[in-house]
Parts: sequence; structure tokens; C-alpha cells
Amino acid sequence: MEVKGEPWQSGAAMTSRTEHDRLAVVDFGGQYAHLIATKIRRLRVRAEIRQPDDPLEAFRPYRGIVLSGSPALASAGEDADWNRAILDLDVPVLGLCFGHQEIAKHYGGRVEHCQREYGPARLRIVRPSPVFADVPRESTVWMSHGDTVVALGPGFVELATSQAAGDERTHRNAAIADERRRRYGFQFHPEVDDTEFGERMLANFALRICGCAPTWTMDRYVDDRIEAIRQQAGSTGVFLLASGGVDSTVCARLLAEALGPKQLHLLHVDNGLMRKDESRGVMRSLERLGVSKNLHFVDAADDFLAALRGLTDPEEKRKAIGQTYVDVFDREAERLGLGEMLLGQGTIYPDTIETGGTRRADVIKTHHNRVPVIERLIAEGRVIEPLRELYKTEVRELGRTLGLPEDLLERHPFPGPGLGIRLLGSDGELPPGFEATAGVARPALREILAPLGLQGDLLPVRSVGVKADLRSYELPVLVWGELEHGRLVEVATRVFQRIPGVNRAVLDLTGRGFRMARPTAAGVTRERLDLLREADAIVMGALERSGLMRSIWQCPTVALPLELDGRRGEFVVVRPVHSERAMTARPAELPAPVLDAIRGILHLPGVIGLGLDLTTKPPGTIEWE
Ligand code: XMP
Repeated sequence: MEVKGEPWQSGAAMTSRTEHDRLAVVDFGGQYAHLIATKIRRLRVRAEIRQPDDPLEAFRPYRGIVLSGSPALASAGEDADWNRAILDLDVPVLGLCFGHQEIAKHYGGRVEHCQREYGPARLRIVRPSPVFADVPRESTVWMSHGDTVVALGPGFVELATSQAAGDERTHRNAAIADERRRRYGFQFHPEVDDTEFGERMLANFALRICGCAPTWTMDRYVDDRIEAIRQQAGSTGVFLLASGGVDSTVCARLLAEALGPKQLHLLHVDNGLMRKDESRGVMRSLERLGVSKNLHFVDAADDFLAALRGLTDPEEKRKAIGQTYVDVFDREAERLGLGEMLLGQGTIYPDTIETGGTRRADVIKTHHNRVPVIERLIAEGRVIEPLRELYKTEVRELGRTLGLPEDLLERHPFPGPGLGIRLLGSDGELPPGFEATAGVARPALREILAPLGLQGDLLPVRSVGVKADLRSYELPVLVWGELEHGRLVEVATRVFQRIPGVNRAVLDLTGRGFRMARPTAAGVTRERLDLLREADAIVMGALERSGLMRSIWQCPTVALPLELDGRRGEFVVVRPVHSERAMTARPAELPAPVLDAIRGILHLPGVIGLGLDLTTKPPGTIEWE
């Protein structure tokens, strides 16, 4: 976007609106509904989210419709009350996962519950179709489902089958179509980055089959946001919580474009959950950026520690952190005499979807900027969140459009609750159901691991994950022995598929393993935070020096309070991932010199072990809580 004169007086927002071809994405509450829309927008086709019970009229402007996945089970008739009249419209329809199953059912096919399947599978195309134009006969796709299409109605044919990693069986009807009616269904998720040719498949649908013209661009999006910000804020000031991360910085720049640097107040809160020396660096870079004439700082570490005292449940911790942000914000707003201002937040899309932010989605995690008190402020129209529809890559693209420096845009994402959700807590008791899970898991682990020369056992702590669009709070397995990284990730996938109650696998970087593990009682304390800060600084330093900061998308360092074979302290886990939008992730391999540097963590006093997370998302999430 070209900015003329004073940036906040840019005339861009006043340019006339062009008409764009549009697609509707029906949001059944799957974790990926907005991701579908984003991927379609990346093709420069305007995609809009619609609800399944919207009236037929609402669907008339669209050249095609995509039905998303859902946490509901089509086989059990769940979420069956959607407006099926949509399917009478004479436009192409593509159903994904749940949407695929609903299309199959609607036209006389049958859907049954099957063994759950998460993660990579090989797709084999068995019949040509325009939806697979320029897609090789075999490719990798991403699955996350518990139902499957077992029979097709008249007019429908099977386009592709699939085979899950580590599974001999062939899944039928991985893709289906009725070309005459222009109805398509994929069991897999073409919208996630890990589906190799997913974008091409969506492009085939949007551009070829629906015939949309690619005219929707980021410049256009910026213009629309600027207009929307001016409308919402009017002459009211905006008080933005600026963590210094990519999101809040891009948000600050966009607000300054729309409102000017005088109407914008920035507050950086040191919540005590930041990385080593982070707050000082953030203040320096906000000053350099010069987007606001009103830059404020508050050290609120004591408030956050007090709010977290005694809490071990991840959701309670997240809510306490979110509430404390609001308390600190209110206190500062009053102190600075800014009471009537709007609260600005750099919330991005995954923060809202994983909090159950679309109408039907399961709550995977309550993000710190989606806690009840903020929801109340949102309902009162007192919150402004210009990035809430965007994914990280789009926020970066937006930042680029607004001329922000590249080093700032390429920083790793860091969650608002910071190290607070990377310090796992425990009441010192074995997690509920531990013995029962262990009874099933141990023989199964032996069967999977022993032939490969590996050993493994459950760790007695729980972490958050996401399976078939639902939240899980389950146990990790620690694996020890020698095997090449790619094979270890395959083994991990087999573990999740075979063993109920397990959502993570971690490689023991000491190779020692353990005989006896117990959780130790621990919450968020200053001492634990200081230790985790040091461990995190070692990891960040190692990535920086090896030039891996850009190729690795994010790398949380997590501490688990454990007693292993009589030694009590922190078991530290490093979680390097490749991802593009945080909605899915693959564990990243670290070269030997980086692993050696990271082993320095074992010399920190209080550290009793070190692991490397091998878990894909799903079934794990990127953060452990
Ligand atoms: P998960 O752990 O859900 O994380 O796979 C996806 C991405 O979101 C970040 N994250 C957060 N960001 N507030 C944030 O601003 C939060 O409460 C929060 N929780 C997770 C996480 O670091 C990852 O990049």
C-alpha cells in the first residue's frame, strides 16, 4: 500500500470498493474452518465464514461453498440440524472431513465410526478429476478424524484412497465426487500446510471448478481494516498492550496508520513471565519504531506471581494471567488518566479459535486475551482487535505491507502467558487414571519400541493436546535409545495411534531413561521461572548461533516437576517445530552441534533431565499447556 502525506491520513481507505468473486466457508466448529478461508484468500479469492444455520439467502452471493470439519461425529448424527438447503444451490460444494461425510450422507452414502486417525497419510488418486488437476498420483495428506465414509450414494465415485503412516490398511473414499452435480468431499484436510498439494487442490476448486477470479489482495485488506478501525474508534483513544512480539507490534503500526500516533497509547507490562532481558529490549524497539507518542511501562511481576500462586491447572493459570492483564491495564489506565479509552489487543486468529472462538469449536485452550472479563469488554464494544482474522504469516505479510523491519517480523511467536504456561505444575499426586493408562501403555510400548532397540515409559504429568478437533489433557511417553529422527517421529505417531491416553512423545536426550518416576508438587514460582529463563536462553542462543531461527518456526522450552529414580527437580523439554500457521506442527530435527549446546541445560542446578519433543500437532499442541 502506498502511503501519502501523514501515514494516518492515507487516502487508501477511501478508494472505491471493487466487487470480488466470493466463496463461503461453512464453519462447523472444526479447528481449521478459518484456515480454509485464509488459504482461499491466499489464492486472492475472497472467502467468508458462514454459520451452518444461516438462511439460504445468505449463501446466494457465493460462487461456491466449502463445508468445514467439526468436533461433532457425523456417524452419530451429531450437529445434524444444519441448513441442508445449501446443497440445493447450483454452485460447486466441497466438503472437508465432517463436511465430506455430511455430503456423502446427504446423497445416500453411509458414514461409520472408525479407528481414530491423526497426522500424515499417503493419498492415492484412483480416478482423475479437475479437483486433482496437477496433483501427483501419490502425495502426503493430513488426517484428523474418527468417522469415515463406507458407502457412496448414486452419482458419487471414489477419487482417492489413503493409507496412514505405519498402518497397512487402505482407507476407502478418502476423496469422493459427483462431477455432474459438482459435489466434492475430502476426508483429509487440504487446508493444513502439511497436506503436500493442499493449496493446489483448493486452487483447483476455487479457480477452476467455481471459476473465481483472483482479485482479493493484502493491500485491499489493509484498506478495509483502516476504515474499520476509524469507524470503531472515532475520536476515542486506543490503549494497546504491547508485548513487543510480532502481533502487537504490527497491531500498533496499523492503529497508528489509522488513528495517528497521538491517539494511540502503548503499555508494555513486564509480567515476570518474559524471557531473559526481554522487557528492556522490547522498550528499546518500541521507542525506535516511533508509532506512538505515549509509551508506558509497568513492572507487574509481583501481581502475576500472586495471581498464579497455588494454581496448577492450565486453564486456571491462563485465566488468572488474562485477568491480571486486565487488572494491571485498568490500574495503569486510571493512573495515567486514560479511563475512557478502548483496549487494543494484537489478538490473532488462532487465539480465538482455540478458545472456542467460533460458535461451535471445542475449547482447546483459553488464550490470555480471550478470558471472560475480556469477553465482557468485547461485548461492550470496548476492545479493538484489528488482527483477529489473521494467521501469523498474514500478520507478517501485513507488517511487510506497512514497512516494518524484517528482523522484527521474523521473531519467533511467544505466547502472552509466556513462561507461565511452560512451567508445568503438579499437586504431587499421580494424574487421575495414570495406573490404568500405564497398564495398557506399557505392554503396547514394549511391542512398538523393543524391535527398534528403543525403550519407553509414561511420565506422570499431563499436557494439553488436540485430537479430532477436541481438547485432550493426557500423558507423555519418554523414549530412549538410538534411532534416526524421521523414524522416531514415525514411532511417536504409532504410539499415539495405538495407545489411548497418550498425546505426546519425548526423546530422552541423556539416553539414560528411568525406572521410577513421580510428580513433585510445584506451581509457578520465581525460582522455577528463573531456571526456565536460563534454559530458554541456552536454547535460543544455540538456535541463533546456528542460524536456525528462521527455519524453525518456534521452539518452546518447558519444565516438568518430577522425581526420577530418586532425583527431584525439573525435567526440561525442548520443542522445536516447523509450522506455518500454528494450527498444525511437525517436530523439527536439530543438528548434533545444536543438541550439544542444548545439553548445557543439564548443568543448570535443579535440572534432572532433558528431552526433545517428537510430537506432531495434532495430537499435541505447540505449547504444553
Ligand atoms: P498451541 O500451543 O495451541 O499454540 O499449539 C499455537 C500458537 O499460539 C501460541 N499461544 C498463545 N499466544 N496467547 C498468545 O498470544 C496465548 O494464550 C497462547 N497460547 C498459545 C503458541 O505459542 C503457538 O505459537
